[in-house]
Order: sequence, then structure tokens, then C-alpha cells
Amino acid sequence: MEQLNTALLFQVQSTVIVIIMFVGLYWRRNRKKHVPAMLTVIIWDILLVLQIELNRGAVAKAVKVVSNRMILNIHVGLALSTVLIYFAMLYTGGKVLKNNLSYRKKHKWLGLLTVTLRLLTYMTSFFAA
Ligand code: HEM
Repeated sequence: MEQLNTALLFQVQSTVIVIIMFVGLYWRRNRKKHVPAMLTVIIWDILLVLQIELNRGAVAKAVKVVSNRMILNIHVGLALSTVLIYFAMLYTGGKVLKNNLSYRKKHKWLGLLTVTLRLLTYMTSFFAA
């Protein structure tokens, strides 16, 4: 029961993070709103990965048998790629913030890739738990 609650708590946080990410995307033309929203997403998401790592035993017990190891591997790969690309978003976002506009296009395409990766991470989490 407690393990199930922990797993639920992770899913709830993950859902809120994805929602904030879409709100931040909607605010992409408004620096004052976009930057704090995306910084919240990045920091909270990294903290979530750490929470899950530290509770791995708990989650494993909750699921008892991981039904699909391949999906789990894909999920972990996507989650790690998302965290890596966050650093590219911080870097390019910082450049755009300083009005270095040559980074704008990179930030835009990397941003779309980030959102795609995060959504795939979210979707696979339901199969890999
Ligand atoms: C998950 C993270 C992020 C995503 C998905 C994302 C996505 C985007 C997208 C799609 C745009 C519009 C680009 C265009 O149409 O030219 C944008 C603009 C921008 N982003 Fe981000 N971004 C993220 C994080 C950040 C961070 C961390 C910063 C700052 C450190 C930042 C700073 C900016 C700035 C300054 C703009 C231009 C806003 C304007 O029109 O003045 N972004 N972002």
C-alpha cells in the first residue's frame, strides 16, 4: 500500500510537471513567464528522477514483476535523455535571454525535441511503472 502511494506520488508530480511544461510552451513569447515556468520544470523534474532513484526498491516491490523489461529500458533511456537535453535548454535559453539571437532557432528545435522526449517519458512510465 505504501509503495503504491509512493508510485502514485511520482505519477502525480510527473503529471504536474508535464502540465507546467505545456503552460511554459504557451508562454514562449513572454520571457517573464516562460523562463520561471521552464526553470521550475527542469529543477522539479531532476528532483523527481532523484526521488525515484532513491526509492527504486519501493517501486520495484509495488510492481512486483516488471512486466516488460524492454519498455522499462526504453523509459529509463528517454528519462535520462530528457535530463541531458535540459542542460542544452538552459544553455541555449540563457543565450537567447542575453539577446544572442543566433541561438533562437536552436533553442526552438531543441525545445520541441525536449517536449517530445518528455511526453514519451511520461507515456512509457505507465507501462514501465
Ligand atoms: C524545457 C525547457 C524549455 C523549452 C521546451 C523551451 C521552448 C521554447 C520555445 C519553443 C521558444 C520559442 C522560440 C521561437 O519561436 O523562436 C522559447 C523561447 C525562449 N526561451 Fe525557452 N524553452 C525552455 C527553457 C528555457 C530556459 C531554461 C530559458 C532561460 C534560461 C529559456 C529562455 C527562452 C527565451 C529568452 C525565449 C525567447 C522569448 C521571447 O520571445 O522573447 N527557455 N523557448
